[in-house]
Amino acid sequence: MDEFFDVVIVGTGAAGLYCALNLPERMTVLILTKQKADESDSFLAQGGICMLRGEEDYALYMEDTLRAGHYENDRGAVDLMIRSSNSVIRDLVRRGVRFARHGDGSLDFTREGAHSRPRILYHEDVTGREITQTLLEEVLRRDNLLLRENTAMLDFISDDAVCGGVVAAGPDGVPYTVGAGAVVLACGGIGGLYRNSTNFPHITGDALAMAMRHKVAVEHLDYIQIHPTTLYSKKPGRRFLISESARGEGALLYDKNGQRFTDELQPRDLLSQAIYRQMERDGTDFVWEDLRPLGRETLKVHFPNICHHCQDEGFDVLHEPIPVVPAQHYFMGGIKVDLSSRTAMPGLYACGEISCNGVHGRNRLASNSLLESLVFAQRAADDILFGETPAFGGKAPDLAPYREQEPLFAAYRQEVRNAIERMRKSHE
Ligand code: SIN
Repeated sequence: MDEFFDVVIVGTGAAGLYCALNLPERMTVLILTKQKADESDSFLAQGGICMLRGEEDYALYMEDTLRAGHYENDRGAVDLMIRSSNSVIRDLVRRGVRFARHGDGSLDFTREGAHSRPRILYHEDVTGREITQTLLEEVLRRDNLLLRENTAMLDFISDDAVCGGVVAAGPDGVPYTVGAGAVVLACGGIGGLYRNSTNFPHITGDALAMAMRHKVAVEHLDYIQIHPTTLYSKKPGRRFLISESARGEGALLYDKNGQRFTDELQPRDLLSQAIYRQMERDGTDFVWEDLRPLGRETLKVHFPNICHHCQDEGFDVLHEPIPVVPAQHYFMGGIKVDLSSRTAMPGLYACGEISCNGVHGRNRLASNSLLESLVFAQRAADDILFGETPAFGGKAPDLAPYREQEPLFAAYRQEVRNAIERMRKSHE
């Protein structure tokens, strides 16, 4: 083994960073990310993060989540997420996250599709960036957390019974092995595999493929969320989101004749289908979204990022509707995990979009993703520390068994090197 850490975390989105920050400072943690640390989909999240607004909101919040998910959700997971939302939000505020507030200092809540009432906290239209940047800055200040950018996980190391680390490669492409008592996969979804997606192109579900190769259980691989409203563009690359909270605040959708054709606040999957049907009827590649009902003040204060981006693309949202089209946005399936984010392989955890704990069912409710990532990242950290079968009982890990497996890891290294060599040759 080339290196040893107590824990390896793959991914620098909200889940990976929050898991790292919830581990004690006596633990050594290596955090890997395939590109730059701020190039995760969490940074792109616009709308916000849900919070339970008192006991009287519990049944409604539960029902909204279940209805959006077609009642295929794991109710225990939803309950855990909702019940944990207040403490997670309090912790974010303590760490310095700035949510929008009224003049008297109380929190301002916005609304999105399929929510029966406003329960979403936001920071302008860049809530993901506000949360993830705050967590990233704290990670960079912590001595026990080593962050390595431009470093891809090529495989995780296992004898198909337990996970003992990862094989990684930095910019030079030379693979090396990292032993660890626990490995946390927090590397996002699969949007990079789609031509039209709101995700970064490098988020390609690598960990999912590795899990399948190691026969670690995965599920609901066909549960893909299509976001109803992204800015129509003929340019290649990532699609720009027109946040659902814009519709929550009053934006309307029009067909080619400028007529409304559907309920703008139905769950995402149903609205995407309605838009596709309308495009087919009209013979168009997009429908129109009108943000003018929000008014100049709300657009400037709540949605400055959307206003600027549309301006750069030649649309003035204060004076005209903009063309929008559905695009891939989120993956509800993934590596199967329990409520402590444990995969089927001891020592291997998954949280965030690559994991499937059943919280979202068949279709995720808007603004449940950041909350779910944070809650279940914390659960992973708790289990690494306090779990009944902790990877190393909360003490410094005994790495002797992994060292004994050195010949196995050497074989992995060789296998990966051979694969890279074959790939290089096929590109020559
Ligand atoms: C949005 O702002 O529409 C996306 C937020 C989310 O995916 O929940």
